[in-house]
Amino acid sequence: MKRIGILTSGGDAPGMNAAIRALVLTASQHQLEVIGFSHGYNGIFNREYRQLTPIDVMHIIQLGGTILKSARCAALQQEDGPQTAAEILHELQIDALIVIGGDGSFRGCMALSQYYQGQLVGLPGTIDNDVDGTDYTIGFATAVETSLNAIDKIRDTADAFERTFLIEVMGRHTGYLALAAGIAGAAEQIICPEYGAIDLADLAQDIKKYQQDFGRGSYIIVMAETMYPAGATALAQELSKLSATECRAVVLGHLQRGGSPVSSDRILATKLAAYALEQLLAGRAHLMMAGEQAGHLGLYPLATTGEKHKKADPYLLAWQQRTLQQ
Ligand code: F6P
Repeated sequence: MKRIGILTSGGDAPGMNAAIRALVLTASQHQLEVIGFSHGYNGIFNREYRQLTPIDVMHIIQLGGTILKSARCAALQQEDGPQTAAEILHELQIDALIVIGGDGSFRGCMALSQYYQGQLVGLPGTIDNDVDGTDYTIGFATAVETSLNAIDKIRDTADAFERTFLIEVMGRHTGYLALAAGIAGAAEQIICPEYGAIDLADLAQDIKKYQQDFGRGSYIIVMAETMYPAGATALAQELSKLSATECRAVVLGHLQRGGSPVSSDRILATKLAAYALEQLLAGRAHLMMAGEQAGHLGLYPLATTGEKHKKADPYLLAWQQRTLQQ
């Protein structure tokens, strides 16, 4: 193995730069050349790439986003896309490709594997944490901190005005982010797919009961995106009517993707990237993703990273429900 390609794909996540840095430094220890493709898989199709050496990754560990840029790639989804991408990788003499992204990006790897002769390895990078084979994905911890920071600030104004706030967080079809930020922010209510569909009347009743029991006060609802198709603002208006309280909506949105990665994301990214590369050199990592489960590094089949076997913390989910019923 002489030359490896790396790329960041899908929603960017804080810590992707830490992973890029660790890949380049580890590759350098093993005299491997690293080619960084820009804008996700598009960089392969557009032949947009550059060599990455240790000097290129100096002082990037603290940066949010990704120095390689990210994107979702329509070209790879075309019928002849995977074959074209594989031909370009062969032409560039890329012996292995390491993809930092979520399960959608790994599906791209699987498609590519039908034509590409080199090795394909994944590193889990997404704020959603919705990837099997690792307890935490790179970027999740930072996104939780960012959301929490916003929730704490909203709590101040919510307390001052004794208002209800509905705060929408990202997470795609899972509630990892909503549950973690909601628990840490002492949200009175968490709405996420793990609890099932929203029962509006029930929710309004909970707000009213809270006010009867504790007097007027702030009431924070953290809601995972996709839970109310009409959007958080429409739901807040509904709740204002049904609960006869003043309910405001805040959509945190892409704010949660940015910012300097927290230490745990930098460390996780460094560890997974170094491990993935070493396993690749040992010939064990083809079509695998590097992950950490219960404190142990391991490899997990790329093909099954999107099966959603991992679940949001059942203990915390149940505890939050019980506190609501008091
Ligand atoms: O997967 C990361 C994520 O931020 C999700 O939480 C969100 O649903 C999606 O990406 C947003 O995608 P886009 O940046 O394309 O709007």
